[in-house]
Amino acid sequence: MDYLEIVGGRKLSGEVTISGAKNASLPIIAATILSDREVILTNLPNVVDIRTLLKLLSMLGGTVKHDNTVAIIDNSSINSTKAVYEIVSQMRASILVLGPLLTRFGECEVSLPGGCAIGQRPIDLHLKALEAMGAKMEIKGGYVRAEAPNGLHGAKIVFDKITVGGTENIVMAAAMAHGTTEIINAAREPEVVQLCEMIADAGIKIDGIATDRITIVGSAGKTLSFKKPIEIIPDRIEAGTYLCAGAITGSKITLDKVNQEHIQATIDKLESMGCSFTINNEKITIHPAKKLAPVNIVTAEYPGFPTDMQAQFMAVAAIADGESLIEERLFENRFMHVSELNRLGTDIWLKGNTAAIHSTDELNAATVMATDLRASSALVLAALVANGTSKVKRIYHLDRGYDNLEGKLSALGADIVRKSE
Ligand code: UD1
Repeated sequence: MDYLEIVGGRKLSGEVTISGAKNASLPIIAATILSDREVILTNLPNVVDIRTLLKLLSMLGGTVKHDNTVAIIDNSSINSTKAVYEIVSQMRASILVLGPLLTRFGECEVSLPGGCAIGQRPIDLHLKALEAMGAKMEIKGGYVRAEAPNGLHGAKIVFDKITVGGTENIVMAAAMAHGTTEIINAAREPEVVQLCEMIADAGIKIDGIATDRITIVGSAGKTLSFKKPIEIIPDRIEAGTYLCAGAITGSKITLDKVNQEHIQATIDKLESMGCSFTINNEKITIHPAKKLAPVNIVTAEYPGFPTDMQAQFMAVAAIADGESLIEERLFENRFMHVSELNRLGTDIWLKGNTAAIHSTDELNAATVMATDLRASSALVLAALVANGTSKVKRIYHLDRGYDNLEGKLSALGADIVRKSE
């Protein structure tokens, strides 16, 4: 199994190019099911999750040509509507095929994703919304079987909780439904916005894009013709992670291909810790703090502070001058990285959904295990400043969502290599 070996204490410098957003690519790949013509996607990140979802499309009968950052997808040949457990269990986001398969084919079977390291993560809101649109649902043998032989119809959907994946599934389902769907309490994440724009560019009337109230007038069963090519937006979480790498190592580094607006919450928090920034179109340079100040963070839906940046900030806060507090409001079990960070010498205490991060003078190298995607990058960040040589194991989590993390960090001057055991 692969692991990363990191010698701490190196300063970073130079420029890193940010890849396309994994979380924007996944719903966009799922949305290609709404079309029976060729779709071209560019700027895809070269990560395992993308390959997993493309594999699922191939298993459904779609034709997929994929080369690192570009995929050419033709879903005219889909001849199965069953998303099997073997794929869905590898990646929860496979549930995103539920809405498009059901709305285009009138039936589908998608394995239930089950729990995951960061919490229970149910899909009840996706299912309730599709039922309101006329789907008949049955859960049997670990699968959701959904039917809508005459197609889905528009409905007023009020999400009890803001859900990114739920909003995306319903936007896709509504695009080919009969009549108008109104989504209230919709997610406004940039990834949801790009999905809506892609569908609107295909001629579907969508009002309220980027707001919490989205209205979609469906095509009444007609497949969509997407504009080509569709370029995936930059990954705001990857960008935020590299900003944290600059902050924790006290280094000036520049990120290329970022959307500053999408990372404003991350910039604000790093500024409050004493870092400063120069922004020039798609480039952003972090100037490190002389001494990092502590920070208080509460995770929230966009445009609030992203839960996907919580673990990385915990690593940075660990070497700040004073006590920081991080409250996790979105997922009930997203502190798995705490005990591993503490093995590197951080002083973090948990009470309920809040972590108190006490200041430590120095971190010391250790062998640690990644528990989930973003937790893994927090361990890498801490290892970059720990004295000695650390090993970060179980990096298959990292490979799901970070495009060439060790290559990009070593180009910036970090001492990091991938090894196998
Ligand atoms: C997406 C992101 C993930 C990010 C999360 C929150 C992708 C592929 N993943 O995940 O990186 O951390 O948004 O920003 O884009 N919930 C329910 N019932 C449901 C659906 C969700 O209770 O049917 C709950 C979840 O358990 C969680 C909260 O709602 O507590 C938000 O989850 P959601 O926004 O749906 O996250 P994902 O789309 O799974």
